[in-house]
Amino acid sequence: MSEPATDLTNKLPADCEVPAHIAIIMDGNGRWAEQHGLSRMDGHLEGRNAARRVIEACAKLGIEVLSLYAFSVQNWQRPTPEVEGLMELIEMALREELQALVANNVRFVASGRRQDLPQSLQRVLDEVERDTAANDGLILNLLVNYGGRAEIIDATRSLAQQVEAGDVSPADIDEQLFAGHLYAPDLPAPDLIIRPGGEMRLSNFLLWQIAYAELVVMPVLWPDFTAAHLLEAIEEYSSRQRRFGRVPKGDE
Ligand code: FPP
Repeated sequence: MSEPATDLTNKLPADCEVPAHIAIIMDGNGRWAEQHGLSRMDGHLEGRNAARRVIEACAKLGIEVLSLYAFSVQNWQRPTPEVEGLMELIEMALREELQALVANNVRFVASGRRQDLPQSLQRVLDEVERDTAANDGLILNLLVNYGGRAEIIDATRSLAQQVEAGDVSPADIDEQLFAGHLYAPDLPAPDLIIRPGGEMRLSNFLLWQIAYAELVVMPVLWPDFTAAHLLEAIEEYSSRQRRFGRVPKGDE
């Protein structure tokens, strides 16, 4: 991020419904690298630049929350150099972007099993969370060592401990109580999921939270993703009729 936030909303139609929470599966770095005769790590480096562009655009658009899927619990199965490279890239990016996040009033939170990450990365996640905690602009939720099923298991464990301690009765468990045990319980559920790279799947992403999210899959590979693609996805979202299980408006 380079400059303080300015308005980008005038690039959208006046009646456009802007989602409060956008969540992105940043896919296609490997394919982008292959197409350019580069290494997979070069693809991830370029993916970092796309993340910067999108964070900046979301801040300018007044989006409340942006969730970015940076490393899944399944990604440990990739070759060791790629796993280590990704850990270093995420740590370096956060160190380098901290000042810009503060300047742009972005509050950073990390979601995932951070206890299994390298110590130095854990420290940076803690530091950036702490140093941006007072900001009240865009919330950037970075998913690192994240899995949707792992999150549901972790929430269940945490709730089960309360039941075991006698603080919660099983009969009191409802969706709201359960959601309070997720990694970032204060964030609203995503309204819009964007998946660049063309794959029509959810890849263990925010499984509890996306029950009623709108999914927009785009062919563009993540390193090529720009603010224009973001605006395109938001316009597509705005054209959808969200029903949350109800009948269409006007048919009640
Ligand atoms: C998936 O593409 C991408 C990842 C597993 C890594 C995404 C991480 C970044 C872009 C770093 C961002 C860092 C910050 C701090 C925001 P892929 O490798 O699966 O691509 P492919 O499907 O083409 O092989």
